[in-house]
Amino acid sequence: MSNELQFTRLRHLRETDEVRRKNAETVLDVSELVYPIFVTLGSGIKRPIDAMPEQFQMSPDVALKLLEGVHSTGIDKVLLFGLPERKDSIGSSASDADEAVQSTVRQIKHALPDMTVITDVCLCEYTEHGHCGVLTPEGQVDNDATLSLLANAAVSHADAGADIVAPSAMMDGQVAAIRAGLEQSGHSDTQIMGYSAKYASNFYGPFREAAGSTPQFGDRRSYQMAFTQSDEAMLEIEADIAEGADYIMVKPALAYLDVIRRAAETFAGKPLAAYNVSGEYSSIKAAAANGWIDERGAATEVLTAIKRAGADLIITYFAPDAARWLAEQ
Ligand code: PBG
Repeated sequence: MSNELQFTRLRHLRETDEVRRKNAETVLDVSELVYPIFVTLGSGIKRPIDAMPEQFQMSPDVALKLLEGVHSTGIDKVLLFGLPERKDSIGSSASDADEAVQSTVRQIKHALPDMTVITDVCLCEYTEHGHCGVLTPEGQVDNDATLSLLANAAVSHADAGADIVAPSAMMDGQVAAIRAGLEQSGHSDTQIMGYSAKYASNFYGPFREAAGSTPQFGDRRSYQMAFTQSDEAMLEIEADIAEGADYIMVKPALAYLDVIRRAAETFAGKPLAAYNVSGEYSSIKAAAANGWIDERGAATEVLTAIKRAGADLIITYFAPDAARWLAEQ
């Protein structure tokens, strides 16, 4: 007996598809996916976004048709970004009731009342300079002067019927300002998803083409977090919760799986979203288009890893594909 090898046969649980499936610790579900889309005013518009294959800038009618299709595959949460008709220095079109986001929200809630509609609340798509807040005469982003503008935008989204507003400007106090604005305008039921720990990331490149939101000078490092930080992410999340956020978020997802895990453990009980951002999407798309990677396999692996790290919700441009893949399994 003493000469016999002693070891555990861990491979037993890997041998067949069936046994692997039965023992899977992390299983994606379509109910965890949020689909981000880009809307613009008009009708019949479906403009491809070069840097994001298979994603489009759409008019509200086209967006609605697309959402009716994906809703039938189980996707029931959408995140809206708007490309406005006009931009100015203070992003005033962000709170225009007739702009693309507000119009699309009304159409979706009318035709698909079960769809949870989340709206991105930021100024970068609406300002001529492309920064997420208004500027001081010296060209700095003015935190406190931005807060009421973000609150106005959020209230206009809630007026249109948005279920959840999601501030992504990374201004201190933005969740509190929006919560107060919602309460004062009779929208006590409207929820807030804070982009709590949002990093100044190189992986937003393709999005800025999609949303026309590239800063015209400088970058966003004075308001978005540095990728060197993890403790600070916990402080950002704590602040959002104290200010009234219903959902918290880590963004991007893949280079920040450790932050997702830490947030899930530190703030257990608060629903945690992770944003699988444009650069993460387009990297897989580009490699797959070259035949260097298997798109379905790589995307499924990445989405599963984000859930395994601790995310309750995953915001991803792969949402419609993932819903189809899950249904096929
Ligand atoms: C706007 C905003 C950005 C993203 C979401 N909201 C861009 C940015 O901060 O520059 C990025 C989303 C993505 O890359 O998919 N504040």
